[in-house]
Amino acid sequence: MRGIILAGGSGTRLRPLTSVHSKQLLPVYDKPMIYYPLSVLMQAGIREILLISAPEHLEAYRSLLGDGSRLGISLSYTVQQEPRGIAEALVIGGPFTAGEDVCLILGDNIFYGHRLPDMLRQEARRLDGCTLFGYPVSDPERYGVASVAEDGTIATLEEKPARPASNLAVTGLYMYDADAANRAARLTPAARGELEITDLNLTYVREGRARLVGLGRGSAWFDTGTHDSLLEAAMFVQVLEKRQGIRISCLEEVAYRMGYVGREQLALLGKEISASSAYGRYVMELANA
Ligand code: G1P
Repeated sequence: MRGIILAGGSGTRLRPLTSVHSKQLLPVYDKPMIYYPLSVLMQAGIREILLISAPEHLEAYRSLLGDGSRLGISLSYTVQQEPRGIAEALVIGGPFTAGEDVCLILGDNIFYGHRLPDMLRQEARRLDGCTLFGYPVSDPERYGVASVAEDGTIATLEEKPARPASNLAVTGLYMYDADAANRAARLTPAARGELEITDLNLTYVREGRARLVGLGRGSAWFDTGTHDSLLEAAMFVQVLEKRQGIRISCLEEVAYRMGYVGREQLALLGKEISASSAYGRYVMELANA
């Protein structure tokens, strides 16, 4: 399975924070936002990853993350010329996925849960059609909303419904079979002028080949679309990290624990970040543990 991170959009809801910066590079406590979705893909065992962003921001991602080899993964980059919707990422990524299953994650979605990596690996193995990940929220009308049949397949799916059929938001993490790029290419833009990911998902729902997997209690999902939700996500990360003395979505640690890099490389990565940064020291201490 290959991975795609969509770090596009114009971030209008977060201006002026995003007037000159890419939204997905904004800080979420101690690291850039993009670290969080990238760590999810890495923990799912996905090592070939395409990052898609706006033309004016792509170089910033490239200089932050490089070709991925320092982390034992392969990263490539492509532009989305205009924010034409999430589903367009699969069309743009078509040549990259080249007939393989794909996991798409939105660059502004933050997931946390100690069982998540195992669950994603399991779902990748049993994928048939598409698998979406649901999270109960108090404001479902802001999201894609699913209702689920007894066998776990999705019965109904609606984008930002005025009257939600359930409180299950569809998060920005999606797994698809190899047909997704073709299906996405056949979509037409919806009301907001974008290729809606929900319209793509509906093609699988109609065939009874879309499953919803609940992220469950004890896991956290944040979308960082507003100033408040961005701050809430940062505070969540701060509380967890300070209390437990760990760092979450630390790419260097993930690469090490997944066996993508060895101890020596980990030490080097820590040194590169800098001993004067608490994050850098954390990475160095892991290498010496
Ligand atoms: C998009 C999707 C929506 C999904 C959400 C998750 O919404 O269209 O189905 O629930 O991401 O973050 P948008 O952020 O484009 O409004």
